[in-house]
Amino acid sequence: MAFSVPDLPYAYDALEPHISEETMRFHHDKHHQAYVDKANAALDGTPFEEARADDLLRSLDELPDDLRDRVRDNVGGHVNHSLFWTSMKPDGGGQPGGKLLGAIKGAFGNFKVFKDTMRGAAASVFGSGWVWLVDDGTRVFIVTTTNQDSPVSDGLTPLLGLDLWEHAYYLQYENRRPEYVDAWLEVIDWEAVEARYDAITRQDVSDILLRTVSIAGVETVFGEIDKESAKKQAAELKALQGWGPMAKVGSIARAWGELANTLDKRDAATVAELDATTIITAATDLWVIPPGRGMV
Ligand SMILES: [Fe+2]
Repeated sequence: MAFSVPDLPYAYDALEPHISEETMRFHHDKHHQAYVDKANAALDGTPFEEARADDLLRSLDELPDDLRDRVRDNVGGHVNHSLFWTSMKPDGGGQPGGKLLGAIKGAFGNFKVFKDTMRGAAASVFGSGWVWLVDDGTRVFIVTTTNQDSPVSDGLTPLLGLDLWEHAYYLQYENRRPEYVDAWLEVIDWEAVEARYDAITRQDVSDILLRTVSIAGVETVFGEIDKESAKKQAAELKALQGWGPMAKVGSIARAWGELANTLDKRDAATVAELDATTIITAATDLWVIPPGRGMV
């Protein structure tokens, strides 16, 4: 089945004044269409003409030499732009919520540092390329690619992509790439990005979240522990430090303190709102699950 350019989920002028109608018409109708046409021409009549775009990008090494570059450039261009259109909306911008915000705070400290890192990465791309917020199954981070190379080829899940080809901004911003980047930050559809983040299959932590912990003598479900409970547990265990039979109590007290800090920094009401990697790490450090064995 041949690839086709998806319709924009909004009008060509919907992202004005941040991204002009003229830019969107050229970018979507001419440039994206060209990638699709070239991808279809490259794959037509080959054993790969029915392959899914993501699968092709994931297995570039398995393609014949005469096909590999054309797939990387043109299937890459198609996949990258399809994500780009659906990462923007009128009245976008602001910041994400939910678990994605927690993951961004966990990776960058706060949302402002994340935005500044995106800006810095955009400035660092020489020539044509992209900046991406990606997920590797355990955490989010920023990568850049050149041309139409896709993070999918590196086994990563792109959550958000910033097109830095001049065709994305030159008609409106000429050579002022930083102005374009700032404008793009105002049209990001964070709900769409969050949905991509939430759709990633991660390690199932439901068993860990249902385990119980004794906090001040009260059996409490691990997933329901909030910042105050974690602080209380840290203080109680700290008071037991030095008591012979409780050799590990100091490190566990510190781990409860760290959990309280993590819940605070990520605006998570309870442990259940944290990402899977953080939950597993905390549960291990707190001996909610046996260290070194993972889930049992
Ligand atoms: Fe583009």
